Amino acid sequence: MELFKELQWFFLQEWKKYTGTLIILTIITLLQLLPSKITGRTIDLILNHQSSTSQILLNISKIISISIIIYILKYFWRILLFSASNQLTSQLRIKFCTALLKKDATFYSKYRTGDLISRATNDIDRVVFSTGEGILTIIDSVISGCSIIFMMCAQTNWKLSLFALIPMPIMAIIMRRYGKLLYKYFQQSQKYFSFLNNQAQDSLSNIHMIRNFGLEKPEINKFSIIAHKVGKKNLKVSKIDAQFDPIIHISIALSNLFAILGGSILITKKQLTFGQLTSFILYLGSMIWPILAFAWMFNILERSNVSWKRIKKIINHKNKKKQYINNINPKKPLNLDINIKKFCFPSRTNNSLYNIKLIISNNTTLGICGPTGSGKTTLIRLIQKHFTLYKGIIKYCQNDINHIQLKKWRSIVSVVHQTPFLFSTNILKNIAFGKPHATIQEIKHVAKLACIHQDIKNFPQGYYTKIGEKGIKLSGGQKQRITIARAFLTPSKIFILDDPLSAVDHDTEHKIIKNIHKYTKKNNITTIIVTHRLSILEKFNNIVVLKNGTILQQGSHEQLLLQKNWYSEMYNYQKFK
Ligand SMILES: Nc1ncnc2c1ncn2[C@@H]1O[C@H](COP(=O)(O)OP(=O)(O)O)[C@@H](O)[C@H]1O
Ligand SMILES: [Mg+2]
Repeated sequence: MELFKELQWFFLQEWKKYTGTLIILTIITLLQLLPSKITGRTIDLILNHQSSTSQILLNISKIISISIIIYILKYFWRILLFSASNQLTSQLRIKFCTALLKKDATFYSKYRTGDLISRATNDIDRVVFSTGEGILTIIDSVISGCSIIFMMCAQTNWKLSLFALIPMPIMAIIMRRYGKLLYKYFQQSQKYFSFLNNQAQDSLSNIHMIRNFGLEKPEINKFSIIAHKVGKKNLKVSKIDAQFDPIIHISIALSNLFAILGGSILITKKQLTFGQLTSFILYLGSMIWPILAFAWMFNILERSNVSWKRIKKIINHKNKKKQYINNINPKKPLNLDINIKKFCFPSRTNNSLYNIKLIISNNTTLGICGPTGSGKTTLIRLIQKHFTLYKGIIKYCQNDINHIQLKKWRSIVSVVHQTPFLFSTNILKNIAFGKPHATIQEIKHVAKLACIHQDIKNFPQGYYTKIGEKGIKLSGGQKQRITIARAFLTPSKIFILDDPLSAVDHDTEHKIIKNIHKYTKKNNITTIIVTHRLSILEKFNNIVVLKNGTILQQGSHEQLLLQKNWYSEMYNYQKFK
């Protein structure tokens, strides 16, 4: 019931549909009681030789008419109830998606894509199910159960009713126990289903790599191990499910036995007629559905509660709260002042960065290089505010960047990432991602700056060519240049490129770097480029060499060449290669 309390906002919003359903279901339940009563009366009339053929035919036609009315009413409540619960599906998915878009990098290092997808689909469907089928079973079982018991007491004999219903409370206690077990096992089954989704997502997104390395078999093995575990967890849930039905049927059978025993005694004492006992047994038979429905409702609610908690955990996950300043004083120098004492990823114990002191003046160029794993991307991520928990401070325009609103900061910094990310739409929309209303001239201009215009012209539909999932129809270099063109289209004060030209040939790379210099100088932009090709750093104002998470060397290209260290060794190695 906690779930329904928390979904109160939705029931209030859809109150008309739920009230309509309640009214129609009440009418149906009351109508359903009539055939048992008419049948009992008819039997008594026949036994007492008081019935005529026309009377019997009239009673039969009454029963048929009631069935037709019930059929029509059932159609209407279904439309009402399920249109309401479908509404909840879209609202919860929008809520979930909105919440995901606001989460920080710490959140995404904790939750994996497969897990999030399973919560957004499977768990939301579970919760919605409880507001459709769940509500139906509650209303139906309560109304029909109570009215049947009332009819049994009022129309036949209340002592017999009490006697016949003795097994029911015992059954309720047993079912409650099973409900708790069901909650526990279903929680485990959903958790493992998330693991399964994570594995599927991992395999699918790396399918080319898996094929290249011939790793299909180990991948299938990994998947089948998790699939078996999911199967086992589901089996545990099914075992509990399977115990629900027999308990109900045993209880009903016991009730019938008690009714026949008690009823026979009452008939011999002439306190009950055969017709009344028949009606009573028919009523008892009609109790099967409300009891089954009640048990089923328990089942639905226990599962939905598990799912709702999994959804809430994501929606309510709070990013660390920060104080924001509203404006950046344009009179102060637009320098980026980095002083990171130490930073460690939440999942790690050793520092990924330490003792990083750097001042990047406005409208200057900084090159970052160093061996792989030295912390180049990590430094860029801290500048982007992906992580805010580190010892030290990064200041822009003399303000701690953690005090600048994320939205504002994103308009100041634009980043081209190491791995290009493209959407499965056409090239034009991919370039215009940050400026959807850009003109075709603007798009062509930035494509020329990124040296991709000629390639695009050679595609079958030019800028309107669809590039497939994650740009599968493009080469690595083409993908990288499209993401650079995208960044050119939305100019910002700090332009960061994290090794974005690794798949581009040497000449094109130099051309693009030249265009970047021209573009940033003209627009008064600070440029930070991470690269492993040192020749492109020759004209940079400052170059930093990172090693093992800290600064190994710093200076201009000429200064660094004079030092006998990583930079000069690597530069000479690349030059002669
Ligand atoms: N999300 C992450 N969680 C934990 N450790 C990470 C994460 N990203 C990078 N690291 C670790 O931080 C170190 C620096 O990585 P990175 O900045 O990507 O190196 P580079 O870009 O210089 O090749 C590496 O040891 C890497 O394993
Ligand atoms: Mg990197």
